[in-house]
Parts: sequence; structure tokens; C-alpha cells
Amino acid sequence: MAKKNQQKKVSGWEYSPSPESTSHISLKKRYQLYINGEWVNPTGERYFPSVNPATEEVIAEVSYADQTDVDKAVIAARKAYEEVWSKLSSAERGKYIYRIARMMQERARELAVIETMDGGKPIRESRDIDVPLACNHFFYYAGWADKLEYAFPNRKAKPLGVVGQIIPWNFPLLMAAWKIAPALAAGNTVVLKPAETTSLTALKLAEIIHDSGLPPGVVNIVTGFGDTGAAIVNHKDINKIAFTGSTDVGKIIQRAVAGTSKKLTLELGGKSANIIFEDAPIDEAVEGIINGIFFNQGHVCCAGSRLFVQESVADKVIRKLKHRISSLKVGDPLDKNTDIGAINSKAQLETIRKYIEIGKREGAEFYQPDCAIPGTGYFCPPTLFSNVAQSSIIAQEEIFGPVLTIQTFRTVDEVLQKANNTPYGLAAGVWTDKGSRIFNLTTKLRAGVVWANTYNKFDPASPFGGYKESGFGREGGLHGLEAYVKLS
Ligand code: NAI
Ligand code: MG
Repeated sequence: MAKKNQQKKVSGWEYSPSPESTSHISLKKRYQLYINGEWVNPTGERYFPSVNPATEEVIAEVSYADQTDVDKAVIAARKAYEEVWSKLSSAERGKYIYRIARMMQERARELAVIETMDGGKPIRESRDIDVPLACNHFFYYAGWADKLEYAFPNRKAKPLGVVGQIIPWNFPLLMAAWKIAPALAAGNTVVLKPAETTSLTALKLAEIIHDSGLPPGVVNIVTGFGDTGAAIVNHKDINKIAFTGSTDVGKIIQRAVAGTSKKLTLELGGKSANIIFEDAPIDEAVEGIINGIFFNQGHVCCAGSRLFVQESVADKVIRKLKHRISSLKVGDPLDKNTDIGAINSKAQLETIRKYIEIGKREGAEFYQPDCAIPGTGYFCPPTLFSNVAQSSIIAQEEIFGPVLTIQTFRTVDEVLQKANNTPYGLAAGVWTDKGSRIFNLTTKLRAGVVWANTYNKFDPASPFGGYKESGFGREGGLHGLEAYVKLS
């Protein structure tokens, strides 16, 4: 009885609200396109709203670029490439990139708050992960700018020219940094399109780039929808396309680029396995599972969305997991205590709900903790499905939300078969005390990144990318630089 009372008290205990201030944020009512170092209206004078998914309020209007606007951006990028950027010494190029990195650091708080308002991710993550990592990407590649001859020994690295870059909504500023920093360091000029639900931090980055004095046309930011992206992909005067987003759109882009001289890198979806062996440090593994699937509401291409637990510890792991997710705080993304923020868009929330219904219909065991969810905004509680069949749709398709499928295994061979039995191959996690087992699995798991006793660790110096339908090409590190040069 005493124990019961105590538990009740604990579950009734609440954090006081701790919202990050937005008073220092200035957003324009309406954003223009950033082309040739200037803010210009879209030719068609069309605009679309950018919504805060936690409040459903429109926080700014964004320009909808069409073919003509993309054309202008490519012409500006070509001119800047021919006349300025490719003529500049590599050390000078590096200085500009360093300056952008430092100015981003100076405006880190503003960037973090806008990232959270526009995309719904918890401020804790945008402040501690997205923005610092984005700055670090610029710092890292700034360092390579004047060292290209050492980066690829005995080979000559030349820029490609104008690169078109299309990014998704899950890490808006970070993806812009992953794309722009190596492209500039290698001497290319850029036309970048942010995702339609999260354009604002890329536009803030355009302001920073402008203030840095980067020559006009070296970076152009055009906002819009899929057809704006397609205009970039199909533009005849672009030398390379870099895309991060869904596998479906990746396939369209690959077909569009086939037979042209455009270089292509694709970073697509995933359905990554997080594997827990019985000798793993269980409490740490539980934290790793939480981080693997609930980080950024599960809107992570490398999310550890398929959990494999060795049968002997399955009950224990699932019990601890249920206990742990009952203390996750779902709600206001601007609150510093929030663990799970808002789902990025209404459309994505509908997709996630559709998959949850499919999971229930398929007969998997469904679990959501009793947690309070705000009345407005797009929210989804952390969700577990156990007893999931390998063939089940929720174990095969990318859900891109806070939904984890749980399967068990007995032997190494069995888990390898199950983990690799997916069209994707982006990432994996292995939790075990045994070093030899880690080495055995890391060589046999068909995944671009394999984490051992950790998950979702990123570093600008470390290459990231996939196999199979997760795409090809690497971002980060020297590999990421290679994607932006011609070697001879
Ligand atoms: P998406 O792939 O349509 O969007 C990504 C970017 O591509 C956006 O900037 C979009 O405007 C652009 N785009 C769309 N169609 C295009 C086209 N034909 N040509 C050129 N660019 C185009 O992703 P969406 O529709 O926002 O999300 C759908 C699903 O895709 C999600 O539920 C998720 O499963 C997956 N996804 C995966 C991502 C990853 O990083 N693995 C990122 C975003 C979405
Ligand atoms: Mg938005």
C-alpha cells in the first residue's frame, strides 16, 4: 500500500514550465528569395505560409520559386563561379567559410529558437545538437578549403561548378550546412532549396551569408515545393545534384539525372536496426533505444526504428523501456524540459497515425504511455509495438515518427538475417560487452554507419551515408569533400 502511494506521488510530480524566450526573435512577415546576393520577389508573386507545428500558427510567409526563379539563381551561381569564386585563392575561400561559421555561432540562440518554432523539435535538441553541429560543419570544411592538394594525395581536385542541393525538413539548418559547407570548400557555387515546411533557418542562414560579405551568387537560396526542386534537378547548367529526402523522390531524381553528365549523391530513407545482446549494459542500452527512436520525434533518416532484443533479456528490456518512456515529456518544443516536441507537419502526423493503425491491425502488441498531449498542434506520444513479425508493414516501411517496432532473436546469425532483410541500409546499432562480436557484426551489417554501444552520434569528420535504397555517396569527412570535386 505504502509503495503504491509513493508511486502515485512520483507520477504526479511535474516540472514547472521552462519556456525559452522568443522575445529576441525577429522574423519578417514575408521572405523573398535570396538570389545573386539580393532579396528578390518570386516571379510569379506566389507565397506560402510557414507554420509552427506546435501552435498551428503561421509564423511567416515564404516565396514560392518557379522555373524562372531557379533559372535566375543558376545564372547567378554560374557567373559567380566563373568570375569570382573559382578565381579566388583557396585560403580566401576558407576565410569566408570560417566567417560564416563564427557568425552562426554568434547567432546560435536565434537560430535554435527559430528552428524549434518552424519545425517543432525540442529546443534542447536544436540548441545542443542541430545548431552546434551545423557550425562545426562549416568550421570543419573551412579547414579543408586550402588543403585540397593534401586531401587527395597525388591527385588534383577541381571543383565541379554549380551544384543544386535539395534538403528535407527534419534537420533544416544542419542539412543546409552539410550541403553548403563542403560545396564551398571545394570551390563550387550553390543553389539550395529548403523543404517547404521548414525554410526559415535556411533564410536566416542566407542573412548570415549576406552579412559575411560572401560574393553575390556564390550561395543562392530558393524556397518552394517539389516542383521547385524538380526545376533544380532538371536544370541544364547544373553540374551536380545533392539530395536528402524520401526514397520515392530520390528515385525520381535518379531517373531524371540518368544520361546526363550531372554528378549525383542521394541520402534517402532508412529502417535501421538497433540490436541489444544479453550481455549489454541494459540501462545504457535502454537510453540508447530511447535516443535512437525518439530523438527529433523519430524524424531521423537513421533512426533506430527496428529494435532487436536477445530473447533472454527481452522481457526485462521491454519492461524498462515502458517505464522509461512514461517519464518522457511530450509537449511545447520551446520548453527546455521537453523530450518529444511536435510532429513536423499535419501531413506527417497523418502518415504516422496511419502506420499506427496498420500496426494494430497487423496484430502487433501496442503500447503508449499515459501522457498529456497539448490540445492544439501536431503531437504523437512515444509508441511501442512488440511481437512484430518480420514481414509486417510497420517493420518494413519507414514511418519517420516516434514509433518503435520490437522483435526478438536468439543467435547472431538470426539477427543478422533479420537486420539485413530490408530494402534500406543506412545505419545500425549494436549493444554488447563483447568486442569481437561488435567487429563481427559491423562487417556483416549492410549499413553505412554502425554504432557500437551508442546511437545517433554525429561528427563533421565522420562520413555518413547509405547502401541500397538508402542512397549513395557520403556526407561528412573527406568522403563528403570528394563528392564535390573532380579528381584527376
Ligand atoms: P520529400 O522527399 O518529398 O521532401 C524532401 C525534399 O525534396 C523537399 O525539399 C521537397 O520539396 C523536395 N522534393 C519533393 N519532390 C521533389 C521532386 N520531384 N524533385 C526534387 N525535389 C523534390 O519528403 P516528404 O514528402 O516531405 O516526406 C515524405 C516521407 O519521406 C516521410 O514520411 C519520410 O518517411 C521520408 N523522408 C525521409 C527523409 C530522410 O532524411 N530520410 C527526409 C524527409 C522525408
Ligand atoms: Mg514550419
